[in-house]
Amino acid sequence: MAKKGEIPYPMFETRRATGGWLITYRLFSISLFIGIFSIWLYRFSHLFNIHGGVEEEEDDDGEKSWVVWVGSLAAELFFGLYWLLTQALRWNPVFRQTFKHRLSQRYEHSLPGVDVFVCTADPDKEPPMMVMNTVLSVMAYDYPSDKLSVYLSDDAASEITFYALLETRSFAKKWLPFCKRFHMEPRSPSAHLDGLCLPTSSDHDDDSIWIQELAAIKKLYDDMERRIEDATKSGQVPRDVRSMHKGFSQWDAYSSRRDHDTILKILLHTKDSLNSKDADGSVMPTLVYLAREKRSQYHHHFKAGAMNSLIRVSSKISNGKIILNVDCDMASNSSESVRDALCFFMDEEKGHEIAFVQFPQNFVGVTKNDLYANHVQVFNKLEAHGSDGCGGSLYIGTGSFHRRDILCGRKFSDQHNAINDWNNDDDDQLIMEESLQKQEQESKPLASCTYEQNTLWGSERGLIYGCAVEDVMTGLSIHSKGWRSVYCNPERKAFLGAPLTTLGQVLVQQKRWAEGDFQILVSKYSPPWHAYGKLSVGLQMVYCNYCFWAPKSLPILYYCIVPSLCLLKGIPLFPKISSPWFIPFAYVILAGNTSSLVEFLSCGGTVQGWWNEQRMWLYKRTSSFFFAFVESILKLLGFPLASGFAITTKVAEQDASQRYEKEIMEFGGSSPMFTLLATLAMLNLFCFLGVSMDALISEDGFIRVLEKMILQIMLCGVLVLINVPIYEGLFFRKDKGGLPTSVAIKSTIFASSACVLFKGMNFIT
Ligand SMILES: *[C@@H]1O[C@H](CO)[C@@H](O)[C@H](O)[C@H]1NC(C)=O
Repeated sequence: MAKKGEIPYPMFETRRATGGWLITYRLFSISLFIGIFSIWLYRFSHLFNIHGGVEEEEDDDGEKSWVVWVGSLAAELFFGLYWLLTQALRWNPVFRQTFKHRLSQRYEHSLPGVDVFVCTADPDKEPPMMVMNTVLSVMAYDYPSDKLSVYLSDDAASEITFYALLETRSFAKKWLPFCKRFHMEPRSPSAHLDGLCLPTSSDHDDDSIWIQELAAIKKLYDDMERRIEDATKSGQVPRDVRSMHKGFSQWDAYSSRRDHDTILKILLHTKDSLNSKDADGSVMPTLVYLAREKRSQYHHHFKAGAMNSLIRVSSKISNGKIILNVDCDMASNSSESVRDALCFFMDEEKGHEIAFVQFPQNFVGVTKNDLYANHVQVFNKLEAHGSDGCGGSLYIGTGSFHRRDILCGRKFSDQHNAINDWNNDDDDQLIMEESLQKQEQESKPLASCTYEQNTLWGSERGLIYGCAVEDVMTGLSIHSKGWRSVYCNPERKAFLGAPLTTLGQVLVQQKRWAEGDFQILVSKYSPPWHAYGKLSVGLQMVYCNYCFWAPKSLPILYYCIVPSLCLLKGIPLFPKISSPWFIPFAYVILAGNTSSLVEFLSCGGTVQGWWNEQRMWLYKRTSSFFFAFVESILKLLGFPLASGFAITTKVAEQDASQRYEKEIMEFGGSSPMFTLLATLAMLNLFCFLGVSMDALISEDGFIRVLEKMILQIMLCGVLVLINVPIYEGLFFRKDKGGLPTSVAIKSTIFASSACVLFKGMNFIT
């Protein structure tokens, strides 16, 4: 430890990308920009015919269609400018490393309290066993138990979830000491015990103790799992348990999920020495169940509302200085994450300005080629580091550690937070059963529907309401106050969740995000308009990457539709192969795709995975983002559509999960988004077939058509190739995961009418 007055060794280190790599990247990126600029130049000069006779002969093909060219120019301007925004995510990535031993050396005895919030909203879509595994994994953090509290917020107010938490409490009494004794990692039981075959014999005595204990704990776990699953299936809590535990009486006045009192139960309390000891006699973390009050006449503000109730209720019970927020499907995979996060907050030199520490979201069970681009490895391993280099990571709503006071709206101050502030201020008295009840009664009003009326909750305090991505919005408001955040991505992944396994789920989730990001764009925090002087330019650009998701759908749709249709009328939109203007196009296409492929491979992906990602990239933009855009605009104009927040299901049917394993795209059902995707796919197919026929019978000859419109034909061809799963889903699949006939009929009609109409239009040459 450093002597007084000296600056001690830092508790974390920040590395930048190595010089050679960075210079190469920057040079490359400048060359790409020159390419993009040349494309703009081409469009401009040809639009206004100021290219000075270089390519007179091109005008043989008739006049250029203004409409189509202006559209292309707009799309290309948008793409180019958006590409500039993405440079903020790559220009200056930083990588952080923590030194946890320094944390224990200096502060082991004055570590702050940490409150973990787990949010669940629907036991049908988020199975209680999954939620309980998440709860157990965070209860078992390698952190002093008397400073750790776990809160489960149940927005469904389900008795089954409460029952499962009771079972979890009993199981935890064995599980926590077991983890600590054998240094188990990770600490979610299902990661070890699901489908485990116990080794029968062993050469080592040590091992045989371990095997015995493992067998015992597995039996306990299996029993618990069976009981919870029985209760889940039957929808009923076993009668004897119900009568034995007073907590259930809170459901007596319960009428529905949307209409009930606050239900709050402190199941374990670190100061309740009688009941809160594990099997080894050690203290256990505090464990609390909360279902905030719901009344139909009050808006409940989804997860943001739940989080704000948790913030208030926990302030009465444990009041940890640090809050960790995890989704119920994101189990901890590393018992050290709390300490990792504290290395940032408690760093003597830089810690005081850090408002939150964000860990990445990772997924287990993603198939090799990641059909739905779940893995987001380029985001996790590259872009998020780039954003950190610009002044902070986005708050993504799970796996993030916050300082309580900043989340509650503390203004930025450059002052060093005296480190000894961290000591918990409350006294160390033990509390008794009655006082626990008293604490419960006192905390309940904090979770009531009316508590927030005429307060700053939801605007200045806690998570911000009214946005579909309340987390990103809240992070932005924190950044706007001057705080920074850091992105922590250790080798061993801190949180692991379940991936989405159908196309529909992914598209719905992405639509919600795009909507939320668009709301941010038009909010009072809007990164491009209102953040000037509050955020660094880099961070403004980072946020803009996401805010422009929804509007970006328009130029992309344009590029998927118009060039292909123009093929039918033989209107070239891009330079011919012999023109010098061909070079910038070829360079941008080639270099852009190569660099994206290299990025993808270097982040651990496969070539097929990259191709799948390109497909998802396209589908998200042409369906989710487009619908998000239309709905947001309608909402702004005062015509809100009822679309609601569909929670993405985390359970899959048997044969659907087999198809997932085989990487067969799962549509399963009809949705306007699928119709749109299928129409685009059919349209490109028709155009491609059309131009091929034309080329074969044309007097000019095949080669000449190709020469004239090579880029356009390639674009259309790639769109056809990437849509192969849709053609299969429409026409060739018999299983339940394909697309329904109605979608096939609709899309064929829409696409063919578009082709016929376009061919007949006169104002386009
Ligand atoms: C999760 O934790 C285990 C145990 O420490 C480790 O072996 C595994 O690599 C981790 N998973 C990931 C994806 O990092």
